[in-house]
Amino acid sequence: MTRSAARRPVLEVEDVHTYYGDAYVLQGLSLALEQGTILGILGRNGVGKTTLVNTIVGFNPPRRGRVLFKGEDVTRLSSFETVRRGMGLVPQGRRVFPTLTVEENLRVAERGGGRRGWSLDRVYALFPRLLERRSQRARTLSGGEQQMLAIGRGLMTDPDCLIMDEPSEGLAPIVIQGVWEAIAKLKAEGLSILLVEQNAALAVKLVDFVHVVSKGQVVYSAEPRELWANEAVKAAYLGI
Ligand SMILES: Nc1ncnc2c1ncn2[C@@H]1O[C@H](COP(=O)(O)OP(=O)(O)O)[C@@H](O)[C@H]1O
Ligand SMILES: [Mg+2]
Repeated sequence: MTRSAARRPVLEVEDVHTYYGDAYVLQGLSLALEQGTILGILGRNGVGKTTLVNTIVGFNPPRRGRVLFKGEDVTRLSSFETVRRGMGLVPQGRRVFPTLTVEENLRVAERGGGRRGWSLDRVYALFPRLLERRSQRARTLSGGEQQMLAIGRGLMTDPDCLIMDEPSEGLAPIVIQGVWEAIAKLKAEGLSILLVEQNAALAVKLVDFVHVVSKGQVVYSAEPRELWANEAVKAAYLGI
């Protein structure tokens, strides 16, 4: 691989403008996720974080602007196509299939043949709890276990980048710790991660760089330590 190819961001969002009907939500948002890093997207409820995820994955394409994945323009592709190309999604609210077992939930997401070689065995190695519960229906799992299952399902698509929308939402601190340790392991294995979070205190423990979003725009960008030291930004945009 050439030097420039090695340095190309895995995911690039260029000046996207996204609407729901007449509601103008993303108002010119850009970002670049560097290979093997975790980029945090922080902001209060309703600022457009999930809309950004939907725009990237293809559920709600932008009216203007572009999304590039591994250098390819994927702006107009469906979510089916973007996932097939290696975008892994862990949606807000987990969205596991309640009546399927743990293993069935993982199997339905299997893409196979990928270069990173994510498999059932590797997901179970990352989350031994899921192995113990492999035959249980997903609805009988705790919130933390369901989050692990949602991450496992994202991994089963064998992604080059994992997009996680509020993985800490509704979880107890002790449970979050386990999920955070798993995300750190994924990064250590070289996976590129877009971590969308409302909980800034948790996100700064993991991310390499952060963008703070307000009203559909990036209003502040920094390394996590710098963000944490900036009381004005925390008060204005993160409610801390
Ligand atoms: N399906 C939808 N139809 C219309 N408006 C929506 C829809 N989804 C979200 N919105 C609006 O878009 C804005 C951004 O929402 P969202 O992206 O979910 O924010 P966040 O994820 O940061 O909480 C909010 O004002 C929300 O009410
Ligand atoms: Mg959201």
